[in-house]
Amino acid sequence: MPATVVVGTQWGDEGKGKVVDFLAERADIVVRFHGGANAGHTVKALGKTLKFHLLPSGIIRPDVVNIIGNGVVVDPETLLQEIETLEAQGFSARNLKLSDRAHVVLPYHKEMDALEEKLKGAQAVGTTLRGIGPAYADKASRLGVRMHDLLEEDSLRERIESSLQTKQVLFREFGKATELRVENLVKVYLGYGKRLAPLLTDTSRYLNEALREGRRVLFEGAQGTHICLDHGTYPFVTSSDCVAGAASTGTGVGPAHLQTIIGVLKAYTSRVGSGPFPTELQGEQGDRIREKGEEYGTTTGRPRRVGWLDLVMINHSVRVNGLTSMALTKADVLGGLPEVLVATGYEVEGRTMEEMPAAVSKLSKARPIYATLEAWPDLSNEEWRKAARNGFGGLPEALQEYCRYLTRMTHVAVNLISVGPERQETVHLESGPPGAPLG
Ligand code: IMP
Repeated sequence: MPATVVVGTQWGDEGKGKVVDFLAERADIVVRFHGGANAGHTVKALGKTLKFHLLPSGIIRPDVVNIIGNGVVVDPETLLQEIETLEAQGFSARNLKLSDRAHVVLPYHKEMDALEEKLKGAQAVGTTLRGIGPAYADKASRLGVRMHDLLEEDSLRERIESSLQTKQVLFREFGKATELRVENLVKVYLGYGKRLAPLLTDTSRYLNEALREGRRVLFEGAQGTHICLDHGTYPFVTSSDCVAGAASTGTGVGPAHLQTIIGVLKAYTSRVGSGPFPTELQGEQGDRIREKGEEYGTTTGRPRRVGWLDLVMINHSVRVNGLTSMALTKADVLGGLPEVLVATGYEVEGRTMEEMPAAVSKLSKARPIYATLEAWPDLSNEEWRKAARNGFGGLPEALQEYCRYLTRMTHVAVNLISVGPERQETVHLESGPPGAPLG
């Protein structure tokens, strides 16, 4: 703080929601800056499990202001449902603000998403079908609808007409005549606009004033660096930039404010959707990690692919985000394995590589070069909680060494270690793990 960015270093689902919830205790404002309802954040607190897609993870803290920034693509129907669910659980969305410049996801974006995936055949990305790609494509093509358009009937009609016109041609061509009619959409989305109007804010102005007053802002990344539109395994990526720099463009806060950049890494790797995955584990070991780690998509319920931690990926993330520290999550899940493997490089067509190749055709051929580390024991939840209460020194020695090893290999301090989903199952160090110099 004052401005801290939390990003995923892998392919998403690193446990960012838990880390943001934990850090939100020291924040005044939590901000989402990219992505949309494709994200799935699980937060376990106060005896409840809450799953969010659009709401920032600080929403359950009554004193924290939560902001959905201009870089997010917002599905108003999903957002209103999430607010209702939240309120039904006894929490309030009173402190929620929504950028008037955020783009809107409309039903035809979801139809386009499904159509494009079908047409791509074997090259399908495996999207969440939430209309994310087509909504960002409309934004870039200047065919988008923004939140403020939902407050003005004529402007909304004009925006929807121009966007739907080109899509109707495609829908017809591919024999998928859509039922969507401009007048119906205008009516429904004006209704959403009316309900969301009290939340609409010039959030860039709000945030800049807050930073000037010394309030602490936490920028909550969604997805992960390797499904980032610019830095991920293109074309098997999402349609927004997921790296720390996007916190600036996605909120209207100058980059000089972004001082602390925390990368979240899971003790192993997971991926949902298509694309290369060099350290993927097939068979029994993969199944064991998937089950124990509950690796099923929060948004789609799909089983996630799982594999060993990959330091080639992590070091790429360190660089493109400019990470200043790292948070290790789900360390408990690997407890009890015979050994823990970590990829330190790849062999591609007879050559050794320590960097991510740009071409997915090359990455698909990468054979990981592994380091083998000592595993830590399988503890019960109660034992992990007790260990965490005793700080870093309370963790099993092999896990302490894992943190030191990661710090040495990345030159970035692992200073937050999560050993369970609850807030108290977390160890937070002021600096890096004792005995692991960064140099
Ligand atoms: P889209 O974002 O729905 O267009 O999906 C593009 C790719 O990103 C697919 O492989 C999705 O599975 C993946 N993806 C999107 N959001 C998330 C997320 O929050 N966690 C993990 N993967 C995601």
